[in-house]
Amino acid sequence: MEFVTLNNGVKMPMVGFGTDAANAELTYNEVMAAATEAGYRMFDTAAMYGNQDELGAYLVNSGLDRSDYFLTSKVAQLEQGYENTLQAFKRTTAALQTDYLDLYLVHWPKFEPFFETWRALEHLYKEGYVRAIGVSNFEAHHLDRLLTQATVVPAVDQIETHPYFNQHVLHNYLTELGIQHQAWSPLGRGAVLQDETLQGIATRYGVSVAQVILRWHIQHNVAVIPKSGNPARMAQNIDLQFQLTPTDMARIDALQRGERIMGAPDQNYTEDSW
Ligand code: A2P
Repeated sequence: MEFVTLNNGVKMPMVGFGTDAANAELTYNEVMAAATEAGYRMFDTAAMYGNQDELGAYLVNSGLDRSDYFLTSKVAQLEQGYENTLQAFKRTTAALQTDYLDLYLVHWPKFEPFFETWRALEHLYKEGYVRAIGVSNFEAHHLDRLLTQATVVPAVDQIETHPYFNQHVLHNYLTELGIQHQAWSPLGRGAVLQDETLQGIATRYGVSVAQVILRWHIQHNVAVIPKSGNPARMAQNIDLQFQLTPTDMARIDALQRGERIMGAPDQNYTEDSW
């Protein structure tokens, strides 16, 4: 298992499991048990996923010690603001049946209570309720604004990233700021998996297209949280013990098309959206 050391010294696995994976045939517990069996020790959730009760129930009965895994959750849009965020943290940790989080993120940028939400996260961090705090879906201008008042620099920015939307400009800015880039939908929700260039590379290395994509992220120092409801695919996604050559890395970099799956962050923080 590869780890990255965040800007406050906390070690985070480079590969985590996106816990809102769905499978028509398996129960939520069976999906999570397969992920644990495959070796995942970082679980990424959010208030808006609506799965924190189930995940918490799974984790306390999993046989894992709390210190064995890294747990991330996110403050939803409707939970933002100082007091709201502190209340949200209580709800989230109660649902997850834990007294601390390893990483707590602001799910989407939202200007109105922007600084108050962050101040609440700083409070939780300084009081030791969360080991690291960060953001999600923040672009350079959101970070610039946050940093005008932040006393703790975010440890992580979790953003949509895959070969068709590789975020290289924001990635370099995050690197400059000492913020770890973490990719959501690292596989591009399936679309990228049909790419002929990636299929050619995968054939040459004797691995799957998904493994090529995840390895490419990791070699760029991008942490990943792939989702799968399928035990064989989730095992594949954490088995990344090979090395892409610089030439193949460059070939994958060249697939950039600037194509998002979701809307841009600035279209995602209306008052009624989570
Ligand atoms: P499935 O659950 O059937 O495996 P992302 O994490 O980028 O959002 O992508 C999630 C999607 O990618 C899911 O639809 C998942 O489907 C699929 N997926 C995950 N891992 C693999 C893999 N190793 N090979 C092919 N498809 C995958």
